[in-house]
Amino acid sequence: MRVLVTGGAGFIGSHVVDALLEAGHAPLIVDVVDASAHGADPEWVPPEVPLLRLDVRDPATWPQALDGADAVCHLAAKVGLGVDFADAPDYVSVNDSGTVEMLTAMHRIGWRGRLVLSSSMVVYGEGSYECDSHGPVRPGPRAVADLDAGRFEPPCPLCGRDLRPGLVGESAPVDPRNVYAATKLHQEHLCAAFGREHDVPVTSLRYHNVYGSRMPRDTPYAGVASLFRSRLAAGADPLVFEDGGQRRDFVHVTDVARANVLALTSDSPWDGPLNVASGRPVTLLEMAGMLALADGRGRRPRVTGSYRLGDVRHVTADPTEAARRIGFRARVTPEDGMRRFAHDPLREPCRGS
Ligand code: UD1
Repeated sequence: MRVLVTGGAGFIGSHVVDALLEAGHAPLIVDVVDASAHGADPEWVPPEVPLLRLDVRDPATWPQALDGADAVCHLAAKVGLGVDFADAPDYVSVNDSGTVEMLTAMHRIGWRGRLVLSSSMVVYGEGSYECDSHGPVRPGPRAVADLDAGRFEPPCPLCGRDLRPGLVGESAPVDPRNVYAATKLHQEHLCAAFGREHDVPVTSLRYHNVYGSRMPRDTPYAGVASLFRSRLAAGADPLVFEDGGQRRDFVHVTDVARANVLALTSDSPWDGPLNVASGRPVTLLEMAGMLALADGRGRRPRVTGSYRLGDVRHVTADPTEAARRIGFRARVTPEDGMRRFAHDPLREPCRGS
């Protein structure tokens, strides 16, 4: 199958390309090869894979990119939290307008095939919580006074009591809390609208915290795994915010790549969102400990008690729907994955670009 992979020179996209090749498919990459995400050259593009260095926002990209494509994995995006709201136009331009250009081009040529969108668990906002008295509840953003006082667990919005965090399923209400999250949800909605009109199945893969080789090193756009790994590489202790008890699901990039291939090749296509997660949630302190141990140079996680306003406390996925719909089950445990990640090469972005 000829598969167009947008963002195929990037961290996750390059692993999707590898997984497609391994499964006997023929990937084609569209990637602008942005110097702020890549080094000068995209080192991991296999020589046999065509790379079109084109911008997803440019309408002229698409006739060439879609020519002969049986399926599309759409990963090209600006990711992470960014620096501040000044980043908003870039997020909206790359993620929303880029997606709209792709869909409009598909519309024009009456493109049919499976479309797999790289989405994110950030669309959920906080994870899922239960109160002993009120059942499932949705806590809002945490108050500064609580965070300053070291009260990191969000309280029940109805009675203020402690909550039990649970696993978030795909039917959970969405609550995007930053610009990136808003664009990811918008991408899902845009693709779904196109899919309904053209009878194209759209699988939106909601990745949890992805890590692994080729991850960009510590930029304002990087996730915590990269930040911890970069500090260890520099001989420093990983800095764990809050009390280290916040929970995430770290899913290895090779599992994420496999989920893409499964979404393209499952017997019946799945039209809708799916969590892509390891199914093995860990606390940030546990994860930092695994990484520091695997690093092997005697560094230890340092719990700072400081916090980032806007961070959610716990968000961990229910992985059962992805298993049922496309047969995806993660293979890499957090222990094995972190052991590998401690020594994997990171991607060196060009500073100041
Ligand atoms: C991250 C990504 C998000 C992505 C999602 C799923 C970023 C900034 N966030 O969300 O874009 O969609 O995973 O893959 O890329 N922390 C520390 N020390 C640090 C940095 C962070 O303890 O040096 C803590 C944070 O306070 C937070 C947790 O680590 O509790 C996770 O942080 P991070 O990876 O940045 O964001 P997520 O909310 O998990």
